[in-house]
Amino acid sequence: MMSCLLCAPAAAGAEEVSLPQPQIQEGMSVMQALARRQTSRSFAVAEISISQLSHILWAANGINRAESGGRTNPAALGVHSVEVYAVTDKGIYLYLPQSHALHLVAEGDFRMATTKGQAFVGEAPLTLVYVGNSSAWENARRVPSEGEQVLYDSIAAGSMSQSVALVAAAEGLGTCVRGSIDIEAFGEAAGLQEGQTILLAQTVGVLQ
Ligand SMILES: Cc1cc2nc3c(=O)[nH]c(=O)nc-3n(C[C@H](O)[C@H](O)[C@H](O)COP(=O)(O)O)c2cc1C
Repeated sequence: MMSCLLCAPAAAGAEEVSLPQPQIQEGMSVMQALARRQTSRSFAVAEISISQLSHILWAANGINRAESGGRTNPAALGVHSVEVYAVTDKGIYLYLPQSHALHLVAEGDFRMATTKGQAFVGEAPLTLVYVGNSSAWENARRVPSEGEQVLYDSIAAGSMSQSVALVAAAEGLGTCVRGSIDIEAFGEAAGLQEGQTILLAQTVGVLQ
């Protein structure tokens, strides 16, 4: 029987889902992962495990230096303005780096709201959506112009998605980073507010 990604928390109505700690001693070399990285748009009918989900989200936006709160990806001026939403058949969840947990934002299957019609997205177990949040820039030591903020957020999302692509490759998973997103549909489903900008989506599934 197929395991169900994030099944239990949604069934129990829980709003926050703790993720297992990432296993940083495991995995293949970065060179091997780079050799495997490629875009995949066809996946097996299979779930990714909660441990793989933990690794993917930690690669996307996790804290790798507890003492400073530093993350797995760089951020201009040290401002981590890009947030990561995880979209499964059970709901939309916001990743919380500090607690390495997911916060339930909306219950239901909104996977197709993250695409303008690429059908494989509705079948794949996971899509990440990278969202810039302009309020994060308010207290920066130098507040960049709006144009710079979009540029910096986009670069950060690119870096985050490549980290995910490499971890996924190392875990035997496939990914497709996507700029083609139904911005209105996902914004509404996730309850995004003014100042939040959808930058990039990334679909993840088990390779066939
Ligand atoms: C910014 C960006 C946006 C992309 N948008 C899409 C998309 O909307 N849909 C899609 O199927 N692939 C998308 N791709 C994936 C590219 O088509 C893919 O990376 C390219 O064909 C090269 O193939 P490779 O990744 O296997 O090397 C995007 C890639 C990037 C970097």
